[in-house]
Amino acid sequence: MTSWSLLGSWVLLIAACAYNPHTDHHSLPDSGGATLHATQNDQLRDLMVAMNSLLFERIHTELEADLGREMAAREIAVAASKLRSNVNAITETLPKLNLPADQQPVFLALAAELGQRAQAIVDVANNRQYARLSPALDNLEQTCMACHHLFRAAHH
Ligand code: HEC
Repeated sequence: MTSWSLLGSWVLLIAACAYNPHTDHHSLPDSGGATLHATQNDQLRDLMVAMNSLLFERIHTELEADLGREMAAREIAVAASKLRSNVNAITETLPKLNLPADQQPVFLALAAELGQRAQAIVDVANNRQYARLSPALDNLEQTCMACHHLFRAAHH
């Protein structure tokens, strides 16, 4: 299917979307305010872009269609698995964020939750529980937004 032919270039596509304010329907809603100053961390940026693609893929692929559904689940499993095994890229930015001591455990808990919810996606996809895939992606998105609202809007 046409959407699958795009898989080879999704990284490029998502990267463009993530950094173009006019295509923000491809990424998380802007939580507003100043961004944190860790953007020099290429590993984190790659990870975030990959995470964004999880949400993007759900919207733009034919997840519910008979054809392509299995392939969609497999791609999502691979991406979520990568995300889970790279959550440390997020936790490693903690020292640079200059968060107040009482907020650091919150940041770490959200990073840990991200890993758990990514693993849940891997499990659901690998077990071909297609009906549970979208709710599992919703859960992941909640974690993305929670962390961004807390730590991207209020700090400089
Ligand atoms: C534990 C906290 C946390 C979680 C969870 C989290 N992020 Fe982030 N995210 C950050 C931080 C910190 C940055 C760096 C912001 C900066 O340097 O300006 C960032 C940056 C980004 C960026 C880079 C582009 C930009 O606008 O700055 C994208 C895209 C992004 N995140 C998407 C996601 C997605 C999608 C998820 C969930 C799948 C997610 N994030 C989950 C903390 C988090």
